[in-house]
Amino acid sequence: MDIINGLKTRRSVRKFNTEKTIPHDDIVKILEAASYAPSAHNTQPWEFLVIENKEKLASLRTLQPWTAFAKEASCAIIVCVDENKTFHREKEGEKWSYADIDGTLAAYGILLAAHDLGYGACFCGAAPMPLVIDNLQKTFNIPSHMRPVAIIPLGIPAEPARQPSESRYQPEKTHWETWTE
Ligand SMILES: Cc1cc2nc3c(=O)[nH]c(=O)nc-3n(C[C@H](O)[C@H](O)[C@H](O)COP(=O)(O)O)c2cc1C
Repeated sequence: MDIINGLKTRRSVRKFNTEKTIPHDDIVKILEAASYAPSAHNTQPWEFLVIENKEKLASLRTLQPWTAFAKEASCAIIVCVDENKTFHREKEGEKWSYADIDGTLAAYGILLAAHDLGYGACFCGAAPMPLVIDNLQKTFNIPSHMRPVAIIPLGIPAEPARQPSESRYQPEKTHWETWTE
């Protein structure tokens, strides 16, 4: 699949074929590809927690309420970012961090790599929701400096993804040279 086609046809998949699972080799292939994501100052601050245990997958909804469909997934990948490694500043009145951006770019890589291999996935938010961060860290023993940025259930799609009936590109949202109304 070429990249532009992949970008356009990737959809959030929330219904999975529960009779088949994603082989470990493919999970590694997906994570390897996602690790080539851009990151500020090339710190590559992500780490991945792979959950395959059915009970744990079903329990995700108690940690982040919009992940109920994860109970039928083959696995879920929790993308975490090392807050000490990510490019950040906390001095001279400034306080900011690229953690969520770095993590989201790796997460998007997971979505696209999964799509390329014929799997379905869905980005589910974690950071910046403080309660979800806390729930995930406590439940899965994630160290406090590792910020969970996304929960991505993955599996074999139960049906072909429905594609948007209209183009998502709206030319009026592109401004050339200067902002136009
Ligand atoms: C920051 C963020 C958080 C999201 N959280 C959830 C979620 O908790 N549960 C869910 O089912 N989908 C979640 N989504 C997926 C969006 O609903 C989905 O991307 C959007 O509806 C567009 O559909 P598409 O991915 O098929 O293009 C999230 C997406 C983003 C970018």
